[in-house]
Amino acid sequence: NWTMVNIAEESIEAVRSQVGGKRAICGLSGGVDSAVAAALVQRAIGDQLTCVFVDHGLLRKGEAEQVEKDFVAATGVNLHVVDAQERFLAALDGVTDPEEKRKIIGREFIRVFEEAAREIVGEAAAEPVEFLVQGTLYPDVVESGGGTGAANIKSHHNVGGLPDDLQFKLVEPLRTLFKDEVRALGEQLGLPAEIVWRQPFPGPGLGIRIIGAVSRERLDILRDADAIAREELTRAGLDREIWQFPVVLLADVRSVGVQGDGRTYGHPVVLRPVTSEDAMTADWARLPYDVLQKISTRITNEVREVNRVTVDITSKPPGTIEWE
Ligand code: XMP
Repeated sequence: NWTMVNIAEESIEAVRSQVGGKRAICGLSGGVDSAVAAALVQRAIGDQLTCVFVDHGLLRKGEAEQVEKDFVAATGVNLHVVDAQERFLAALDGVTDPEEKRKIIGREFIRVFEEAAREIVGEAAAEPVEFLVQGTLYPDVVESGGGTGAANIKSHHNVGGLPDDLQFKLVEPLRTLFKDEVRALGEQLGLPAEIVWRQPFPGPGLGIRIIGAVSRERLDILRDADAIAREELTRAGLDREIWQFPVVLLADVRSVGVQGDGRTYGHPVVLRPVTSEDAMTADWARLPYDVLQKISTRITNEVREVNRVTVDITSKPPGTIEWE
């Protein structure tokens, strides 16, 4: 629509005049906000922008490929990928405490990003890197102004706190926008629907959806179960009604089942579909029984290690959206 065309054009112009002929870097998380911010800045300054994608191995099935292939194809952005999967697995080895996991993932993320930024800054180029692009939205601005109450129950992380000798000026082209406006802007900029309509996903990723220690095997199990749940939600046409649909692996719990020809002793997964306006409060989503049944049958047939599927029917409060 024409308002979005105006917003896009004005924002592109504003970025151009802020950055001038200098260079900028931007961290891509796989989420909507950083993708739209990067696409916009790319339109404004082209090759002066370098994006960094830290693959921490905690994304859902297909998401890393979406950033590395589809996003690049749609925007032509200059992308620097860091495969840090082993590093994150090693750092998380044996850790079960949720806040400890968040701290480790946040810390490693900053370190890896910082190393990549140093490399890019150090590259011989006509202009130094002066700017860091961030996908900060209006609600983030408000929240960090007076961070009290529920917003602080869990320690969230974003790319922030870079060390003193890596001082960047911030470019935050989405600072005045709400999520729905960011999505409209993303469509306007020609981003793929799977990126623009992606549901919110926590920075620590699947790391906080495995109850128990994180390992590659557990991540693979969860990725498979999660992919089935998402696929069936999409097939049922419910993506836009459901705010988020975490699938949680109870990795330290086992129960007895019969699958195929024999007795199994596998893990349960929890489906956690919720509706919400802003994630501060949420209600459990009344997914149609036939959709739940389809997901349950497919997961227990297709994911060998899972022999039980349960649904979380707790609203927030008292339950948070994520299990950790
Ligand atoms: P909870 O679980 O507190 O989550 O109801 C509220 C919203 O925040 C997301 N979330 C996070 N996002 N880093 C993030 O970037 C985090 O550590 C984190 N923890 C929760 C959650 O997915 C939901 O949208």
